[in-house]
Amino acid sequence: MSGHEDRRVVMKCDDNLAFMRPLSDESFQLVVTSPPYNIGKTYESRITLDSYVESQSRVIAECVRLLHPRGSLCWQVGNHVQRGEIFPLDIVLYPVFQRLGLKLRNRIVWHFGHGLHCSKRLSGRYETILWFTKGDDYIFNLDAIRVPSKYPGKKYFKGPKAGQLSCNPLGKNPGDVWIFPNVKNNHVEKTIHPCQFPVELVERLVLALTEPRGAVLDPYMGVGSTVIATAKHGRVGYGCDIVKEYVDIAWRRMRAFRAGALRTRPMHKPVYDPSKPNGGHQRPQRDSESVTAVPLVAKAYDG
Ligand SMILES: C[S@@+](CC[C@H](N)C(=O)[O-])C[C@H]1O[C@@H](n2cnc3c(N)ncnc32)[C@H](O)[C@@H]1O
Repeated sequence: MSGHEDRRVVMKCDDNLAFMRPLSDESFQLVVTSPPYNIGKTYESRITLDSYVESQSRVIAECVRLLHPRGSLCWQVGNHVQRGEIFPLDIVLYPVFQRLGLKLRNRIVWHFGHGLHCSKRLSGRYETILWFTKGDDYIFNLDAIRVPSKYPGKKYFKGPKAGQLSCNPLGKNPGDVWIFPNVKNNHVEKTIHPCQFPVELVERLVLALTEPRGAVLDPYMGVGSTVIATAKHGRVGYGCDIVKEYVDIAWRRMRAFRAGALRTRPMHKPVYDPSKPNGGHQRPQRDSESVTAVPLVAKAYDG
C-alpha cells in the first residue's frame, strides 16, 4: 500500500478527474461531496457560471460512471454570488444530473444558525443536499437514521390497535430538513479549512445510503470529513483534494480517529439552546474542546 492509502482509506492530493479515471465502473455505493461554489475561496479561481457548470458536468459524469446501480449521489451546495445576486447551485446544476439519468429522491435542506450577517438581503441560514439515485432499486436503510419521536410512548386510544404504540419504537424518519451546527470557529471539528461540512451530516447519509464495508467517494474531500464519517461506520472511504495541506490534515484526522483521539460532534447531540439549562446538553461540554492536534484558525464563511 502507498502512503496515500491504508486498508480502508484512500486519500490523495490530486485533481479529481485524474483521481477518478483509474477507478472501476459502478464500484461506489455513495458519492457525497461539497464542491467549490465559484465564489473566490482561496482554493478556487472565479470563472463564468457557464464554465463552472461545464467543469462540474465533467466531474459529475465521472462520478455517475463510478456509481453502483443501487447507489446514491449527494451534492451539497449553497449559493454562487455575483455582484450581490444569488444563484442557488442546486437549481443551476439540477439539469446536469437529470441529463445524466439520475433520479432526485430528496432535496434536503441543511439549516444552521451561524454565518455572515447580510445587510442587503436576508442572511443565508441553509444550504441543500441534492440526493439522487442511479435507479429505482436503491439502498435506503431508514431504520439506521431514525431520530427520537416527539411522543415515544404514545398509543392508539381506540379502534382495533387500541393500546398499541402508534409510532415506530425505533424512532421517526428524520425528514428532509436537517439541523446541524455548521463548522464555525467554536465547532469541535474546525480546522484551517474555510468551509468544512460537519461529520454528523455525512454520517447520516453514509448510514442510510450504504451497506457495511460499502465504498464511498468524495471527489472534493477538503480535510476528509466524508472519509472520517465512513471510517466511523465501517465503510471504505476514498477522497482527493488539490490542496496538499488539506490532505495532510485529513490524514492527521484519520490517524487521530484510529487512535481514539479525534473528537467529532456526536450525531444525536441536540443543538445548543440558550434558553435551557446547560444549553439543553446532558453534561457540561463545550463544542470548542478538541483533542486533535489539528490547528485551529479563525475564518468566516457564508457560502
Ligand atoms: C467546499 S470544499 C470541501 C470541504 C469538505 N467537504 C470538508 O469537509 O473538508 C471544496 C474542496 O474542493 C477542493 N477542490 C477544488 N477543485 C478541486 C479539484 N479539481 N480536484 C479536487 N479537489 C478540488 C478544494 O481545495 C476544497 O478543499
